[in-house]
Amino acid sequence: MNEFFQTLKKDHVEQKGILGQLTETKEAKKREELFKKLREELVPHIKAEESTFYPLLLAKKEAREDALEGLEEHHVSDVVLKELEKMPKGEDQWGAKMSVFKELVEHHIKDEESKVFKSAEKALDQDEFQNIKKNFDEEKQKIKKTLK
Ligand SMILES: [Fe+2]
Repeated sequence: MNEFFQTLKKDHVEQKGILGQLTETKEAKKREELFKKLREELVPHIKAEESTFYPLLLAKKEAREDALEGLEEHHVSDVVLKELEKMPKGEDQWGAKMSVFKELVEHHIKDEESKVFKSAEKALDQDEFQNIKKNFDEEKQKIKKTLK
């Protein structure tokens, strides 16, 4: 597996870990804290993917369909994430929404690591992956700084 995919997978493991912790607590303060951590992980990751990885896939016939689906999943995640952000964390509805959000993100991760990775491997060569990784890392760091 190429280095770029390894980077994404490492982020995914981190994200799934925080999501797991978040669905296990009902305490508002703990939820606030973990949610902040989740946003700081998810937002830069997704934005960096969208600016450095997905556009290259959209341009290739063999990867376009999976990329379009991945981007739609990003969009839905973004909508739900914003709702979670606005809603009081102590409410029951917040827990229900978070539980659906967790399923959404887990589904997206699964799709990305299977379908998207596979079609990306067909569409892009090793030099391109090296470039994408470099741009992805830089972009993620940049966005992380603006979030804090
Ligand atoms: Fe993604």
